[in-house]
Amino acid sequence: MARILGIESSCDETAASVVENGETVLSSVVASQMDTHGKYGGVVPELASREHLRAIVPVVREALDRAGASLAGLDAIAATVGPGLVGSLLVGLTYAKSLSFASGVPLIAVNHIEGHIHAVILEAGAVEFPALALVVSGGHTHLFEVREGFQYRLLGKTRDDAAGEAFDKVAKLLGFGYPGGPVIDRVAPFGNPRAVKFTFAKMKGNALDFSFSGLKTAVLRWVQTHDMDAEIEARRALRRDHPNPTVEEWLALTPPRTLDLLAPFQHAVVHALLTRAAASPDQTDARSLIVSGGVACNSGLRQAAHAAGLPYPVYFPTPGLSTDNAAMIAAAAFPKLARRDFAPYDILAQANLTLA
Ligand code: KG4
Ligand code: ZN
Repeated sequence: MARILGIESSCDETAASVVENGETVLSSVVASQMDTHGKYGGVVPELASREHLRAIVPVVREALDRAGASLAGLDAIAATVGPGLVGSLLVGLTYAKSLSFASGVPLIAVNHIEGHIHAVILEAGAVEFPALALVVSGGHTHLFEVREGFQYRLLGKTRDDAAGEAFDKVAKLLGFGYPGGPVIDRVAPFGNPRAVKFTFAKMKGNALDFSFSGLKTAVLRWVQTHDMDAEIEARRALRRDHPNPTVEEWLALTPPRTLDLLAPFQHAVVHALLTRAAASPDQTDARSLIVSGGVACNSGLRQAAHAAGLPYPVYFPTPGLSTDNAAMIAAAAFPKLARRDFAPYDILAQANLTLA
């Protein structure tokens, strides 16, 4: 029986979790900073570090309490070491180091992207290897091949914006606030996905790379030529007054013409993601597809992935494990514990850490 405390603080969520044997979540606590960053339309790094400092001690304590675990009873303490905002990473990593030093429980450093992949394995139990893993969040859009024993090979990545960033930028432009993915997801089904045709420039080089900045610019051009100032201002005002408006409130301020822009936008992002996933088995002998990261919450993506007739099973984490959390960090640390792959106390937070 191995119990691992996971700590995650790479972006705007302070999270801690205790997971047993890489598969049983005994507790998972996530303190979101949405209210802090929402009004700025994106994550403000300095504010994020400050909020992590405030939250880290109570969040870790609550995760231990809910799990009925004590520090001394842990087999390892795992923390995200990168990639992410360096000031944010430092808070979780430094706290993990100090807990490890004080208790004598070994420290394990986890790559945040590997954590997202383990969120799926944690819930699904066994997945078929080799697997394709599509990690799509606010910071990353990566397609990996994952081999038995967690060997990673990068097949493609975004050359500009991440998929979640495209959602966030379009939502901000249209007055829906931050984070944009969840709002667009809720209103897009009310529009016609074929009303606007977005075309993607053909990618030179690696056909499995992604690019979302052209799509974002196309939306911007559309907005500039359609006289939308009044509705955008009305939605901004709604978001100022309510941190989390209902879908009915959003729809009341969003004319059909705008819904007919958002539905094709979401459709285009989903299409770009799934065509890469569907094309890549030719380059691998993949037997399953894992989709994870915040954008994996997207209902249009989930429906399309299941309807795409892919030649292998597709796995998504439940929404709570798709966005940033610490259960995925504790789960990713479990195979490292088995290998006794412990981190030294002088390990540094690495903002640009890669997985493969
Ligand atoms: O994994 P995550 O919590 O943090 C990062 O590591 O970036 O992902 C957050 C991102 C944000 O860009 C957010 O807009 C997006 O995930 N997101 C969604 C949805 N829920 C969250 N995007 C599309 N549809 C959703 N339902
Ligand atoms: Zn993430």
